[in-house]
Amino acid sequence: MCGIIGYIGNNDAKAFLLDGLEKMEYRGYDSSGISVMSGNKIHTFKKRGRLQILRESLKNQQDVSGFVGIGHTRWATHGGASDINAHPQNSQSGRISVVHNGIIENYISLKNFLLEKGFKFISDTDTEVVAQLIDFYYKDNFFEAVKTAVSKLEGSYALGILCSNEPDKIIAAKKDSPLIVGIGEDENYIASDVTALISKTRKIYRLEENDIAVVKKDKVTIYSNAGKKVLDRDKDCTTIDWDIESVGKGNYDHFMMKEIMQQPKVLKKTIDSLIKNGKIDFLDVGLTDEYLKSLSKIFIVACGSAYHVGVVGRYVVEKLAKISVEVELASEFRYKEPLVDESSLVIVISQSGETADSLAALREAKKLGAKVLSIVNVVGSSIANESDYVIYTLAGQEIAVATTKAYSCQLSVVYILALYFAERFKSISDDDLSKYIAELISLPDKLELILQQKDELLEIAQKYKDISCAFFIGRTLDYAVCMEGSLKLKEVSYVHCEAYAAGELKHGTISLIEKGTLVIALLTQDELFDKTVSNLREVKARGARIFAITTANHRSKINEVADDVYFIPECLNLMSPVLSVIPLQLLSYYSAFLRGCDIDKPRNLAKSVTVE
Ligand code: AGP
Repeated sequence: MCGIIGYIGNNDAKAFLLDGLEKMEYRGYDSSGISVMSGNKIHTFKKRGRLQILRESLKNQQDVSGFVGIGHTRWATHGGASDINAHPQNSQSGRISVVHNGIIENYISLKNFLLEKGFKFISDTDTEVVAQLIDFYYKDNFFEAVKTAVSKLEGSYALGILCSNEPDKIIAAKKDSPLIVGIGEDENYIASDVTALISKTRKIYRLEENDIAVVKKDKVTIYSNAGKKVLDRDKDCTTIDWDIESVGKGNYDHFMMKEIMQQPKVLKKTIDSLIKNGKIDFLDVGLTDEYLKSLSKIFIVACGSAYHVGVVGRYVVEKLAKISVEVELASEFRYKEPLVDESSLVIVISQSGETADSLAALREAKKLGAKVLSIVNVVGSSIANESDYVIYTLAGQEIAVATTKAYSCQLSVVYILALYFAERFKSISDDDLSKYIAELISLPDKLELILQQKDELLEIAQKYKDISCAFFIGRTLDYAVCMEGSLKLKEVSYVHCEAYAAGELKHGTISLIEKGTLVIALLTQDELFDKTVSNLREVKARGARIFAITTANHRSKINEVADDVYFIPECLNLMSPVLSVIPLQLLSYYSAFLRGCDIDKPRNLAKSVTVE
């Protein structure tokens, strides 16, 4: 996912831009660049590769000082990673410079239109078309040119734009791709996320759909469908309450380990926000009994790890609340003409709240008449803003591309939601409700116990660090957690993994098991333990090496078949996913560490996929 930064004020823009881009490196990128206004000329510098390469190239430039600028870290979509395709993209006259997050779906037709008008292009990007289009419409009014140009765009965009004829402003525009304005002291900013600004300001304004912002150093004017308003930093802005220390790695080598270790604290914080004095408190959510009674089906829709939370959620909601649940990949749901109507509740799970497929699925669900409840980690994000009901996870900002603490907090919310439904539908007894709530409240401490034994997972990772593939197998809830474990190992250590329902192996995949193949098995569901052990004997007979995760009550039996075993603390089987995923997170982290991978910024990945 690309990163946008912009500065206008009385200080050196270049230094702020580079620092802001550095703070957004975690989002994933393959090129970077800045444009700085110096007098009435725009100077643009951009390079393929890491930000350090851009910094090095700037050292060789004549010093460009200016008080207005924009910057970008690009994750290649249209046109490969290259100096030419890096942003900012400028119009051929040099008058307009643009940084862009998103995809312009009609850029070909616009490009052909401009080619006929005599424009020449040098890049493969859709963004260059935007710069040229603004220039085409520029007569003597920068804002009007931008307004006309963006009205022709189809697709998604977050734009930061400079115009050399009007050097006293940056114009920002937003549709389907997040962009915020930061209000400073005699200076103002734009950025893709708060991380880039928090060292300068805690007063931010999240642009809404189709907003255009004219950002001057002493005034920000927002033009929206509702009209025009000058931003008041106290009335209109959100105050970010993160402590700056929370944004750094602290004593950890990687954000991923820091965030794994934060799980007990943020899990407790999330649970405590929804369970007070042993009772579920959903007053702020706004779900009414009358509405719940009108429901015939629930859909859970998400991507990646958030989808894996949904797979657990389906088992748990159906078991506790006895209501039919479908869990769908957002990228599939949005195109499959889902059987959704007013009697459906669609739950969208998203850490960033900006995932393009999940946002599109939300809009599709609402178009079909359903209400949407979202479980989101970023306050005021697009998915949260467009939902009928929102439950926030309190994981705090998650920097590592591979989610850990947000996944765990999402899981806890899904459990609490399932218990809330069960309580309202009276589908479980008060005693069982109290038992499950008590177990949930105990989980952060049990999770802490696992983290205290994290070196055991380092030993396992060392033993298997040279594997080229792995199979994760389990049944029901264990299978759901296998999906997440498999994704974790894939995305940070680049090991090819598959998650398989243990009972499904013999229907084809067991043909891949050969001497030395690693099979990672989850056996936390007591009533299915023996079944899964049988599957382990089948793969063992074909040469597999087995790493099992289970509970100590199965110690003797599991030691007969597994090469290595990790025992998670005892807990109610239904809630074991919150614990069994932790050793898999640690295994993935250590495997990646031992393989020398870029753990926080894995190749090809972005923290939030804001484009299709
Ligand atoms: C998980 O480790 C990945 N980073 C990825 O699968 C992620 O969960 C997915 O892109 C969904 O992101 P979201 O939760 O921000 O919507």
